[in-house]
Amino acid sequence: MTDHPATAPRRLRSQDWFDNPDEPGHTVLFLERFLNYGLSREELQSGKPVIGIAQTGSDLSPCNRHHLELARRVREGIREAGGIAMEFPVHPIQETCRRPTAALDRNLAYLGLVEVLHGYPLDGVVLTTGCDKTTPACLMAAATVDLPAIVLSGGPMLNGWFRGERTGSGSILWRARERYAEGAIDEEEYRELVSSAAPSIGHCNTMGTASTMNALAEALGMSLPGCAAIPAPYRERAQMAYDTGRRIVDMVRADLKPSDVLTREAFENAIVVNSAIGGSTNAPIHVNAIARHAGVDLTMDDWQRIGRDVPLLVNMQPAGTYLGEEFHRAGGVPAVLHELVRGGLLHAGARTVNGATIGGNCERRPSLDHDVIRPLAAATGGPAGFLVLRGNLFDSAILKTSVISPEFRDRYLSDPADPEAFEGRAAVFDGPEDYTARIDDPGLGVDADSILVMRGTGPIGYPGAAEVVNMRPPAALLRRGVRALPCIGDGRQSGTSASPSILNAAPEAAAGGGLALVRTGDRIRVDLRRGRVDLLVTDDELARRRADLAAAGGYAYPESQTPWQEIQRGMVGQLDGGMVLESALRYQ
Ligand code: FES
Ligand code: MG
Repeated sequence: MTDHPATAPRRLRSQDWFDNPDEPGHTVLFLERFLNYGLSREELQSGKPVIGIAQTGSDLSPCNRHHLELARRVREGIREAGGIAMEFPVHPIQETCRRPTAALDRNLAYLGLVEVLHGYPLDGVVLTTGCDKTTPACLMAAATVDLPAIVLSGGPMLNGWFRGERTGSGSILWRARERYAEGAIDEEEYRELVSSAAPSIGHCNTMGTASTMNALAEALGMSLPGCAAIPAPYRERAQMAYDTGRRIVDMVRADLKPSDVLTREAFENAIVVNSAIGGSTNAPIHVNAIARHAGVDLTMDDWQRIGRDVPLLVNMQPAGTYLGEEFHRAGGVPAVLHELVRGGLLHAGARTVNGATIGGNCERRPSLDHDVIRPLAAATGGPAGFLVLRGNLFDSAILKTSVISPEFRDRYLSDPADPEAFEGRAAVFDGPEDYTARIDDPGLGVDADSILVMRGTGPIGYPGAAEVVNMRPPAALLRRGVRALPCIGDGRQSGTSASPSILNAAPEAAAGGGLALVRTGDRIRVDLRRGRVDLLVTDDELARRRADLAAAGGYAYPESQTPWQEIQRGMVGQLDGGMVLESALRYQ
């Protein structure tokens, strides 16, 4: 540890509640209620740091549920280091069960956590993270309130296995759906295959959004080194919980805050690491959101400039073979950082929550298995970062090149004259329900050269932005061996799907974006080398369609079902800007 405790004890924020000579009446009130679960007045007035444990686990959040157990070890660490622990609930977020979409809850959990951190007698907080949006929600709130904060990841599940093959949670769903649609497995086998991928407590064991965001929390410097990858049931996970509890108390004493850690350098490091791990396409949304709440203006141009050329180092599904257990055994995030620092690709001097630098923390932690975490010199796959695209359909969208299937490469990227451009005929869907109802309709005319377009699924159109842009081809095409069609959409996609998708398009159709103007049968040209996607209709025709749409009252989307959906729709920005509540950015 390189930081030093202050020479004279600093007056802590919690003392404004428990030991405030200016407000003796209030102090008595606070003491009275907090005494009744076993704390003594002496303890509350002793100047010990009061540490919140922001609990994201619950029966409704099974991916994070073991944090209920881990919190015991966190408490022991806090107490051992001389602090007082106070655990409290965070609004539950569960990726796969929350309707209409879990993304709706990221900003709601953020708001709730900001209020708790601001309004209660806390000097620091342990952020328990795991399932996709729990990590960004917690980090966004910590960045806003700027109270000493440390991330404790819950860790991935153990590896899934089915008939001798690894099955990754999240990605297996896509494979199982395809196999079921083409008639290769029956319903019983479908169920068995899908549940094999989730064999234990923990978050998804692939490099989907959960593993990505926990890895990036560590790369940002917000967790202890090695925290992200330890599988949830491992002994080291509980040890990490204890160490994290101990550390936050010292962080409060040293007044080490998110603003000391979440610097521009840290965010640039996160972009590089995301490419190297083959991270989720949700990462730019969440990382940009955390950055904006931290007062760092990160844009999609930064992702292209900093992240595009970084090679893939981690051989983990969906871009590779392995799962969370192998990633941990190969050295986890510190080993990835080690390689990137050696290659000069990171800001090694960025500070982390343990008081040391990111470079210092990973200095003696090389990859222990070069098949799982490749040394930089052995990375052969070319640039692995997102391609950032624009054109007359949107100002910004991304393509994750590391997961493009060989079939797609052969079909669309094999023209030697112009290997990175292709054209296709659009088949347009207004939301996932429309897609489900019509994809297998022969009248739609979808063939091997079609491009599937999904709209109405951005932050406003499908409140929260649905994870639905990756669409499987019609069953008839699957049976003929066409396993993937290019997709374009204003929604998100699961980081665990292998469809070649152009997603996160902003602005979305519901916010006046060009996707609202596409019609089934139009031709779309995708030029990856020039970073463009264009609808091949004349400017006059586009203008006419735009006028018709305006006359019809704009792009129609479903009514809000709850007050929060309505509130968020009125305040939310687009995916390229992190889908944040724009007016919340004033409170930094
Ligand atoms: Fe919660 Fe994947 S569904 S981590
Ligand atoms: Mg997801």
